[in-house]
Amino acid sequence: MRPIEIERLGGVVGAAVHGVDLSKPLDDAAFAAILEAWHKHSLLVFHDQRLEPEDHIGFARRFGEIENHVLKANLMPSHPEILLSSNKKKADGKRVGRAYNGEYWHSDGAYLPTPSRASLLYGIEIPIGYGDTMFASTHAAYETLSQPYKDLLNGLTCAHEFHQTYRTNKDRLAEFKVSAEENEYTSSPVTVHPATHTHPETGRRALFVDPSFATGFLELESSESDTLLAFLRDHLTCPAFTYRHRWQPNDLLLWDNRSLVHAAVVDYDDSMPRYLHRVTVKGDPPQR
Ligand code: SIN
Repeated sequence: MRPIEIERLGGVVGAAVHGVDLSKPLDDAAFAAILEAWHKHSLLVFHDQRLEPEDHIGFARRFGEIENHVLKANLMPSHPEILLSSNKKKADGKRVGRAYNGEYWHSDGAYLPTPSRASLLYGIEIPIGYGDTMFASTHAAYETLSQPYKDLLNGLTCAHEFHQTYRTNKDRLAEFKVSAEENEYTSSPVTVHPATHTHPETGRRALFVDPSFATGFLELESSESDTLLAFLRDHLTCPAFTYRHRWQPNDLLLWDNRSLVHAAVVDYDDSMPRYLHRVTVKGDPPQR
């Protein structure tokens, strides 16, 4: 096998990993090299992978306990660890999976008491040149703030809710609003996280204010909170902190939700099929 090579892709986020076949068992040295690159670049791209659901889930398990997504109706029946993300329709007209998933900037599981550590998204059918995924570094967003803003945010906690994204993006998401049967998180409990956190493996600080799921800062008056949230939604996605991934079929993306927010670019429609599998790994409660 070729030695593993890491090719940097973006200014602050993203690297491609060459010389790895994820359908085969990875030895500890190869896994350690991948982990080191993941910590450094936050997002890794593995091109040209041929993965059965078992391979995908098996690689994800190297990063920790798998967390089945709260959208139960979109899980693969034979492998509920896999969230089906697709705009395709079955013969009965129903969607194959979650259509146009993740259209707004967010971090996976930010609404959970234990937000997701890693997400592994495998592209099977891709509308070539469309449906890119964008990533932005929450470390860069924190590090570029002035000291008074850092001090303010280091003293705040922020509430997050799964359903917040349906409130703020009402019209666009009308078709996809989850029903009680589809989602075990229907009551949309509020989860409070520190507004900044320290990455548990690298020690690097980052913002932890989700652009889609955050509802407000507990210590602020509501007008102050709304203003700060609006500023941070802009700041978190400043172009200088981003990398935009143009998909090829058989790409596997592995990203760190403690270091990034991401958004799916919906510039395609139902005439352009897109079909992906996502596995998510459970994380820990964010700590200052
Ligand atoms: C997501 O996992 O948020 C969706 C990303 C994508 O489909 O591009």
